[in-house]
Order: sequence, then C-alpha cells, then structure tokens
Amino acid sequence: MKKPGEVFEDASVYDPGIEAIVPRYDELHDALLNAPPHDRGASIRALELGAGTGELTAKLLTRFPESSVVAVDHSEGMLAEADRKLATFGDRATIEEGAFPDDYPEESDAYDLVVSSLAIHHLDAADKRALFDAIGDALVPGGWFLNGDVIRFDAPHLEALSSDMIANWVRSKGWEEQEFMDIWEASDDYDDPSTLTDQLVWLREAGFESVTSIWQYYNFAVYGGKKPE
Ligand SMILES: C[S@@+](CC[C@H](N)C(=O)[O-])C[C@H]1O[C@@H](n2cnc3c(N)ncnc32)[C@H](O)[C@@H]1O
Repeated sequence: MKKPGEVFEDASVYDPGIEAIVPRYDELHDALLNAPPHDRGASIRALELGAGTGELTAKLLTRFPESSVVAVDHSEGMLAEADRKLATFGDRATIEEGAFPDDYPEESDAYDLVVSSLAIHHLDAADKRALFDAIGDALVPGGWFLNGDVIRFDAPHLEALSSDMIANWVRSKGWEEQEFMDIWEASDDYDDPSTLTDQLVWLREAGFESVTSIWQYYNFAVYGGKKPE
C-alpha cells in the first residue's frame, strides 16, 4: 500500500511521471527557489519536507553552491532515488527518513530556509497548522518558509476548471488521463488540499510575517513567509 504522496507504485518512474501530471512542475520549483532573499553564495542551512526523489533538493543545492539541505521523507522508495540523485553533492545533502509533523522539524532555531513541494497538501487542516507552528520554531529569526503545493478552490467551477486544465496538460504529453493513471499506476488517495487564503491566515497566526503567494497556476501555488527577526 502506498504512503501519502508516493503517487506511483514504482518510485523509479516518479521523475518523468510527475512532469506529465503536474503542469509547470519546473516553473513551480523555480518560483520557490527565486523567493528566498539570500545571496547565491550564502551558506544556507535548509530543511526540505517531503523531498521525494530529491528533485527540488538538487536544484536548491545547485542554485546555492554553499548551501546544505536536510532532505526528509517517509517513503523508503523515494529516498532510494534521492540517495542516487544527491550522491554528487556529498555531505551537503543529508537524507533522513521520517514523517512530518510527527518527527520533523525536530530542532529549534536551526534553519535559514524550510522548503517543501507537493507534499504538505496531504495533511489535514489541523496537521498543517501544527506543522506551520513547528516550522516557525525550526527557523532562525529572519528565516523563510516556502511551499509549492496543490491548493483547493472554494468554488466548484474553479475546481472543475483545474481538473480540465490538468487533463489537457496530460493530453499535451501524449496521454489520455485515465490511460496514464492506469499504465503508470498513479493515484493519490490522500489528497487534502486547503485553500490558499486559509493557509496564508494560518501562517500569520503561526507568527510569520511578509506572508504572501509568489506564484500560482490554477490549483498550484507557491507561498510562504518569514520568521520575524
Ligand atoms: C508528490 S511527492 C513530491 C516530491 C518532491 N518534493 C517534488 O517536488 O517532486 C510528495 C512526497 O512527500 C512525501 N510525503 C508526503 N507526506 C509526508 C509526510 N507526512 N511525511 C514525510 N513525507 C511525506 C511522499 O513520500 C513523497 O515523496
């Protein structure tokens, strides 16, 4: 049985598979990595929640050559892929198996940056709020939390519009959506996205400032905030 967020039975098909079902996947990662205020040469200590195969991790480590990342995920299969992909970064990448919000973040005032993509939407509202509190605690003053994720529209016609957009995207990659889902054994029965507005409010309530959305494409958004100095 798959764990939340594993998407595919076989983690080795995740990289090509996710690009075929998440529109503008690379653009979402780019928007997230463009958002931190740090200089390229800064020695950023980052925590990534739900690192999967390490795609965002590798991009972060490349963009900030003096950075280090603790990449956390609860999926053994995904982390095996991440292990291969991140080997080239040596001890700048630390891979840890565990679940958020139960096991991670575990340290206080430890990170300049906490990032996540396409993972936190699996938590229900109470766990998202608990996680935002814990992330606030894990960041150093002035540190940033940035999340690129699935959001829910509070309007059924906009949810339908997003589904149509995704079906068109899958078709543009040469698949019919159901054919793709069947052949790639793709599914995510654990999705529980919240609205963007609710999450921005919860971030404010968790003590973040400069809370904002940076990028949005239908039901995908990049948003976050800063821990006060
Ligand atoms: C859709 S993948 C995204 C992977 C990567 N961040 C990316 O952008 O491609 C979601 C990942 O989050 C992990 N995940 C979901 N919920 C989690 C939780 N509560 N604790 C730890 N990992 C979780 C899954 O195992 C999966 O690897």
